[in-house]
Amino acid sequence: MASRFGLSDRMFVGPAARRLAATLERELEEVEEALARELQSADPLVDAMSRYLYEAGGKRVRPMLVLLTAHLGEGMTDAVRDTAVALELMHLGSLYHDDVMDGADRRRGVTAAHRVWDNSTAILIGDLLLSRASRVMGRHGDIAVDMQTETFERLVMGQLNETVGPRDGDDPIAFYLQVLADKTGSLIAAAAQAGAHFGGAAEEHRDALRAYGEKVGVAFQLADDVIDLSADPEKTGKVPGTDLRAGVVTMPYLLLKDSADPADVDLAGRIDAGVERIREGADPAILDGELEELRDHAATARTHELALRWTSEAVDALAPLPRGTVREALTRFARELADRSR
Ligand code: IPE
Ligand code: IPE
Ligand code: MG
Ligand code: MG
Repeated sequence: MASRFGLSDRMFVGPAARRLAATLERELEEVEEALARELQSADPLVDAMSRYLYEAGGKRVRPMLVLLTAHLGEGMTDAVRDTAVALELMHLGSLYHDDVMDGADRRRGVTAAHRVWDNSTAILIGDLLLSRASRVMGRHGDIAVDMQTETFERLVMGQLNETVGPRDGDDPIAFYLQVLADKTGSLIAAAAQAGAHFGGAAEEHRDALRAYGEKVGVAFQLADDVIDLSADPEKTGKVPGTDLRAGVVTMPYLLLKDSADPADVDLAGRIDAGVERIREGADPAILDGELEELRDHAATARTHELALRWTSEAVDALAPLPRGTVREALTRFARELADRSR
């Protein structure tokens, strides 16, 4: 199975599951073609900028979830395909914006869009893709539009809260988990739920899938926090410690900050001081030692355990679904996401 679509052999085990995987592969090709059509612009420069991150790759997790959960009902319809397209467009638009906000150098294995062009261009291309997402969802009535606007509002609130940080009296760990649920869980939840809705699955399945998607999103981000500290860039495809060195809050860091143990207070202090010096222009390598210490720290092991806990809660949320290839694939998908951080 083409890993291009984030569909791994480990997700579809056995003959019935392999047949479903083959169907999904064909349906994902259809989504790809529709995405390419929706991304077109008459102006060649705008066209190239809009297609830039789409062509760079990506796992297409959200379209895959839409198509997969549609098979709890009748499978692919025009509305199912358009929802998959619109949610990937929303994801894409938010990536152009996110890389500006995070000052990221790379995305999907290529130079981030704002480094190829500039911040204003990347922001406007993101806006363009978000308006295209609305155009596509608008074809399918009020429910589709509500689903899209509610999802996007939550995504934006997640990004905004992450930017502003906890207010006085907020528990930083609970606040962080809410940010993850909003900025990432909301869109994954919408994908899982929308497939079931437009594929015609039973109402109670939609609620279960929404809960599943949200928890999967949180588990996915917690696994990412562990991966940031990972020693093996070959395996993860990311530069180790990017978040830590940039002073981006992650769960291992928050758990470390939460500890009163003098050794932990000392490590947190050294990280904060290093981040400050890097901000002032010091070589990011000054935090190499602290990065290693945090990687081997109990706070990171606990983050991994938390990712596993959110994964198993996601799987538990699937209990109302009928047993079968779709439920099995969703279960394996959730487990595989958390496994990335092992
Ligand atoms: C990355 O999402 C951005 C987040 C919301 C965490 P993905 O890991 O699904 O990114 P692509 O689509 O495969 O590039
Ligand atoms: C991205 O979150 C979330 C959205 C785009 C809504 P992050 O900033 O944590 O993800 P990466 O590491 O850039 O993919
Ligand atoms: Mg980012
Ligand atoms: Mg971000």
